[in-house]
Amino acid sequence: MTDVNKPAANAGATERDQSPHLAGQTAVVTGANSGIGEAIARALAARGAAVVVNYHAHPDDADRVVRDIVAAGGRATAVAADVSKEADVDSLFAATVREFGTVDILVSNAGLQQDAALADMTLAQWQKVIDVNLTGGFLCARAAVREFLRRGPRPAVSRATGKIIFTSSVHEAIPWAGHANYAASKGGIKLLMESIAQELGPRRIRVNSIAPGAIKTNINVEAWSTPEAERKLLKLIPYGRVGDPDDIGRVAAWLASDDADYVHGATLFVDGGMTLYPGFAGGG
Ligand code: BGC
Repeated sequence: MTDVNKPAANAGATERDQSPHLAGQTAVVTGANSGIGEAIARALAARGAAVVVNYHAHPDDADRVVRDIVAAGGRATAVAADVSKEADVDSLFAATVREFGTVDILVSNAGLQQDAALADMTLAQWQKVIDVNLTGGFLCARAAVREFLRRGPRPAVSRATGKIIFTSSVHEAIPWAGHANYAASKGGIKLLMESIAQELGPRRIRVNSIAPGAIKTNINVEAWSTPEAERKLLKLIPYGRVGDPDDIGRVAAWLASDDADYVHGATLFVDGGMTLYPGFAGGG
């Protein structure tokens, strides 16, 4: 019988390498052909994980990420799937198991915004955001958990039988006028994550979220790409800089590793202090 309390063989790897070790593990990262997902895929691959770079549109971008990872000596493959479609998600995981044998880490990251004032928001805008950001998280987590349970523990590669990381948002906590669909989807992710963390902890499946603040990607390009916009945005960030995708990549690599083995059911806000109510710094 496997003793899951025994440190994994790689738990003492810090003398060789200060960075978290993911060698021998496979990660599925959804929405990994750009932005935060791309940075997470690169960070996991740099620490030794084989990475499935999932994308929905823009296969060229997914190929570019895969090529770079492979050129740097890593393992990666691109797999198309719309995370809001059950059949797509099932074939994404089947392709991963075919290519790399199993799945150890899911980073459920694919997400989008379709912004509108409530009175103008169409049902299609509401539904699209909920389908991709929230239902996509459910479908991917379910597929990952089924594979973790099928495969069972692998203490030689990780103390946890599987790890799930959701890319949430500061807007799981901060209400956001004009973005009710997006904030509702991220609020949903918060309780999806916490509920399945409670359910799956006894199976040694570790479930957490990262809640990024403003990170320079295409999703919010209008908020940082001109000096005036950036100045306005910085008023919301006590730490005084807009985040880069790699700020999230590094945290995800740590959270996926055994260095974070006792972190379970947590949301890590990686936001330069955006959740600290900066408006109160000079008032209240
Ligand atoms: C959104 C960005 C926004 C950031 C901070 C993210 O979740 O996708 O558009 O800049 O939150 O408000």
